Amino acid sequence: MFDEQINRREVPALKVHPMVLGDDGMNLFAGGVADMDFRAPQPVLDAMQRRLDHGIFGYEAVPGGLMPALTQWYQARYGWQIEHEHILRAPNILNALAIAASLFTDEGDGVIVQPPVFFDFFDILRENGRTVVTNPLVLANGRYRMDFQDLEHKAANPRTRMIYLCNPHNPVGRVWSAEDLRKLGDICARHDVLVVSDEIHGDLVFGGAAYTPFASLGPDFAANAITCLSPAKTFNIASCCSAFTVIANDDRRATFQAENSRLTVNKNNAFANAAMEAAYKDGGPWLDEVLHYLQSNANLVRARLRGIPGVELIEPDGTFLLWLDFRALGLAPDDLTAFLRRKAKWAVTRGQAFGPEGAGFARLNIACTRAKLTAALDSLEGAMEHAPVPTP
Ligand SMILES: Cc1ncc(COP(=O)(O)O)c(C=O)c1O
Repeated sequence: MFDEQINRREVPALKVHPMVLGDDGMNLFAGGVADMDFRAPQPVLDAMQRRLDHGIFGYEAVPGGLMPALTQWYQARYGWQIEHEHILRAPNILNALAIAASLFTDEGDGVIVQPPVFFDFFDILRENGRTVVTNPLVLANGRYRMDFQDLEHKAANPRTRMIYLCNPHNPVGRVWSAEDLRKLGDICARHDVLVVSDEIHGDLVFGGAAYTPFASLGPDFAANAITCLSPAKTFNIASCCSAFTVIANDDRRATFQAENSRLTVNKNNAFANAAMEAAYKDGGPWLDEVLHYLQSNANLVRARLRGIPGVELIEPDGTFLLWLDFRALGLAPDDLTAFLRRKAKWAVTRGQAFGPEGAGFARLNIACTRAKLTAALDSLEGAMEHAPVPTP
C-alpha cells in the first residue's frame, strides 16, 4: 500500500512546493519537510468522509471519544496513564513550545537545547527573546549521546530555567532510553529547570528501541514536565490535527489554561477532531505497517551507503529522518548543500540548519516510496563518484 506513487503536487504540499524546493526544484528528490508521502490510515479517511457527509460545519465541542482515545493509546502502547484533567489542547506543538517558554521563563532567561536539533527550537526561543543555551550531543562510535556533565553545568546557571527536550530526537534519530531521561530529569529537577518534552516523534520507533514518555518515569518527573504530544507525524495528518500538552502540576496547568483562554486558543476543527479520534482508536495496525515499511527503507539506505564511500549513516532508533554524515568529503556546509542539490539532485535538509554541530551532515526523509528512495540513492551514488576528493 505504501508503494503507491501519489502526486503531492495535486495539493500545495510544502515538501514539493517552490517555497521549499525553490523555483528550479521541480525535478529534485524532495527529502526535506518532515511528513510522509503516504495516505493517512483508512479509518482516518473514513471518519473524515463521514464528517464531510454530515454537511454542517458549525461551531463544535471536542467529541466525547477523543480524549479517551488519546489516553487509551498511551496506556496501551507505552503503559503511560495520563490523567484526563492534565491534558490541554494546543493548535500545534510549536505553539505549545512557544507558550511554555513565554509563560515559565522571563525575557533573557536561558533555555537549553541539545544540538544538532530541530531548527524551530532556536527560532522560537530567539523570537521570544529567550537565550539559547546549547548542550550539544556527543557523537562517539557512530552514535549520539547526551553530555550530562555539560548539562549539569548549564542547568546550574540560575538564569537557565527550561530545557526543550526532543524525545525521540530530530534529526539524529535517537530514542532516548529511560535511563537517559532519568538522568536528565534528575539534573533538571536539582537545578529547577523545567522540562518541556517534545514527543511528536514518539510513535515512530523501530524494533529494538522503546519510546519512554518523559512524564511516565514517575510522579516527580511528571511534576517537572510539560509534555507536548501530537498525532501529526504518526498518522501523517500534520495539516489536519491539533496537539496536546500534558501538565501534571496544577498551578502550571492553570497558568497555561489561562493563557490559552487569553489567546482564545480553543476553536475546534471538525475534521481534525474526527481524524484524531479515529487515528488513536483504530490507527494502530496502520502504524505498525508503516513502521515496517520505514524500517525497510532505512535498511535499504544502510545497505546502499555501504557501497558509497564518503557518506555514513548514523544508525537510527526511530523517526523517518535519517542523519547522514558527509564530513569525509571535506566540503564547507554550503558547498555540501550545493553538491547534493546540483549533482545528486537531492533537496534534503542541510545539516547546519540544526546548529553548527550539524555542519557536514544532511537530513534525509525516507517516508517515501521505495522506488523513489531507490532512484534517489542511485542518483547519490552517481554524484559521489564525482565528489571532490578531500585534501588531506
Ligand atoms: C521535533 C518536532 N517538533 C515539532 C514539529 C512541528 O510540530 P507542529 O507541526 O505540531 O507544530 C516537528 C516537525 O517537523 C518536529 O520535528
